[in-house]
Amino acid sequence: MENQQRVVVLGAGGRLARSLVEAWSGRFRVRSVRRSGDGGLDVADERAVRRFFEEVDFDWIVNGTGLTNVDRCETARDEALQVNARAPAILADIACRRKARVLHFSTDYVFDGIEAGLLKESDAASPLGWYGETKLRGERAVMQRDARHVVVRVSWVFGPHKSSFVDQILARALREERVEAIEDKWSSPTSAEDAASWLAPFLERDLPGGVYHACNAGWCSWREYGQEALDIAAALGWPLRARRVDGIPLASVRSFVAPRPVRTILDTTKLQSVAGVTLRTWQEALQDYIARHAPVPPAA
Ligand SMILES: NC(=O)c1ccc[n+]([C@@H]2O[C@H](COP(=O)([O-])OP(=O)(O)OC[C@H]3O[C@@H](n4cnc5c(N)ncnc54)[C@H](OP(=O)(O)O)[C@@H]3O)[C@@H](O)[C@H]2O)c1
Repeated sequence: MENQQRVVVLGAGGRLARSLVEAWSGRFRVRSVRRSGDGGLDVADERAVRRFFEEVDFDWIVNGTGLTNVDRCETARDEALQVNARAPAILADIACRRKARVLHFSTDYVFDGIEAGLLKESDAASPLGWYGETKLRGERAVMQRDARHVVVRVSWVFGPHKSSFVDQILARALREERVEAIEDKWSSPTSAEDAASWLAPFLERDLPGGVYHACNAGWCSWREYGQEALDIAAALGWPLRARRVDGIPLASVRSFVAPRPVRTILDTTKLQSVAGVTLRTWQEALQDYIARHAPVPPAA
C-alpha cells in the first residue's frame, strides 16, 4: 500500500533524482519537480522557491539539484555557490518551519583524497576545488538548520536516465578500437537505482538525521571501472571494437580545470546499520545495469 509520506523531489530531470522518482512513485506520494517547464523551479531563485513551498504540502524535500560539472564550477563560481550551498540552506530552512525534513545529496569531492583508507562521515572534509567547497557549505548549512535532516554523500553515480562515464566508455568501445581511462584515481560507483532502495527507509521510518555515505560496495580506478563495463558487455555479446581499456595518468588530462581528489572511497557502515540495508558490489550493480539499461548496441 502507498505510504502517505508526501515527498517533493527537486532536480527531477537529473541522473539521480529521476531514478528516485521512478522507484518511489508507487511507494510514496511523490511530486517530481524539474528546473524548467510546466511547474518547474529554479532553486537559485529564492523568492520562487519560498513561494512554491507555500503552496505545497510535504513531509520531505529531496534535493537532487546541483551544479555538478566540476570544471564549470571553477568558473561559474557564483552560480555554483547559489545552487550547491545557498539553495540547500533555504530548503532546509523552509522544511524546518513546516516541521518537515530534507534529504540532500553531497559528494565524495568534499574530501581531499589523500587518505589511503575508507572515509567515514566523521573524517575531516577538505575539498580541493570549488565544486567540493560549495557542496560542503551546502551540507553544513542543511545540518546546521536541523539535525533531523539527512545529507547523503554519493560518488560516481550511474543510472538509466542520463549518460555517465560507463555509458560513454561503452559507446566509445562500440565505435573505436582503442579506449582509455584514468588509472590513478579511485572511488566507488553508485547505482542511482540502488540508491533509491537504500534511502527509502528514511522516508518510511523515523531514522536519525545526519550525514551518510552511500555507494556500492568495493572500489576501483576509472580504468578498472571501464574495463569491468567492457567485460560485462562483451560477455553479453556486444560487438565491441575495443575490448581493453588502456590506463592514462590523471595528470595527463589537459581538459580538466578543477583539481580532483585521487582516492575517495566511502565507508558505508553507518548507512547499512541505520537503514538496515545491504549494499551490493558495484560489479553486481553494473552487470544488472548494462544488461537492462545501457544503450542497445547496433547489430554486428
Ligand atoms: N553524478 C555523480 O557522479 C555524483 C557524484 C557525487 C555526488 N553527486 C551529487 O548527487 C546529486 C545529483 O547529481 P546527478 O548526478 O543527478 O546530477 P545531474 O544529472 O547533473 O542533476 C542535477 C540536476 O540539478 C538541476 N539543476 C541545476 N541547477 C538548477 C537550478 N538552478 N534549479 C533547479 N534545478 C537545477 C539540473 O537541471 P538541468 O538538467 O536543467 O541542468 C539537473 O537536473 C548532486 O547533489 C551531486 O552533487 C553526483
